[in-house]
Amino acid sequence: MSAYVSVVRSVGGYLPARVLTNDDLGRMVQTSDDWIVERTGIRRRHIAADGETTSDLAVQASRRALEAAGLEPSDIDLIVLATATPDYTFPSTATVVQGALGITHGAAFDIHAVCSGFIYALSMADNCLVRGQFERALVIGAETFSRIIDWSDRATCVLFGDGAGAVVLERRLVAEADGRGIKAVHLRSDGRYRDLLYVDGGPSKTRTVGHLRMQGNQVFRHAVTKISESVRETLAQAQVDISEVDWFVPHQANQRILSAVAERLGLAESRIVSTVADHGNTSAASVPLAMDVALRDGRIRPGQLVLLEAIGGGLTWGSALIRI
Ligand code: ACO
Repeated sequence: MSAYVSVVRSVGGYLPARVLTNDDLGRMVQTSDDWIVERTGIRRRHIAADGETTSDLAVQASRRALEAAGLEPSDIDLIVLATATPDYTFPSTATVVQGALGITHGAAFDIHAVCSGFIYALSMADNCLVRGQFERALVIGAETFSRIIDWSDRATCVLFGDGAGAVVLERRLVAEADGRGIKAVHLRSDGRYRDLLYVDGGPSKTRTVGHLRMQGNQVFRHAVTKISESVRETLAQAQVDISEVDWFVPHQANQRILSAVAERLGLAESRIVSTVADHGNTSAASVPLAMDVALRDGRIRPGQLVLLEAIGGGLTWGSALIRI
């Protein structure tokens, strides 16, 4: 067992200023506020301004996380950024953020696991810290899905929004961590299901960026079963019973998925942190954004056990248990 554990020191979030409501969408495609709220729970989402990039959102979220921790950018020696909507094919958005923050040491790289990206990024950063390779990481989920949405497709354009969330993850000696830190992480993928949720473009295949395509009801079905299985694996690994979990912070895809998973796991609705009504699905940004909201409004308190989960294109999925 390692002498180190990765502890969440702070969280920051950023949402672009522009808000797109369901009524706004009703003027763009044949849909209604009633349909969207009933099927998804989403009421509004934020959309990046022209010229506002994924790295811009990530930098804002990172600055807020650093400020909350009382740290300077130079205190960070690792950036792991999860995104499916990078500024460029290369360099990585993580290195763009590193440059914008003025960090000239350490390492930065992107993770591509779509909506599960933040859980994957957290796991990779945790492994680096626990191994003793780095001291303090920014783990970021940042997306501008508005750039890959087909705005004429009512089945998908109502679901997504833009945003970024960032977590400062810090290496501590287990003996000095007061029981805090990442307790367990479970990651899975199954490429047989890649056609259920994908983008129909890419540099090698089409030389285009492409648009998001989804078989919504199939994704829904996989989401409920696969997330429940993953959470059970994570809890078993940490030897924690579901009744000990204080807060469930799921990927914010759809209120019906969140409620169905919580019901399967025997988690009370009152323990779910849900931001889906205000943010929509911000892909890799959704979990750290929801953590940020619940930490700032005082729901999540130091010492509590927090369960994170996500599923996304690939399919990829995973979950993590953290004592904050
Ligand atoms: N407004 C009005 N009607 C619509 C809309 C809309 N925005 N979108 C679809 N419809 C219509 C369809 O055309 C269809 O009409 P028809 O019966 O005349 O053919 C009808 O509504 C039912 O369509 P379904 O796709 O079967 O609707 P469903 O109840 O499955 O809800 C939804 C669709 C909300 C997308 C749901 O399947 C879902 O949430 N799936 C999960 C997918 C998801 O969250 N993906 C996000 C990325 S992955 C992730 O983050 C987990």
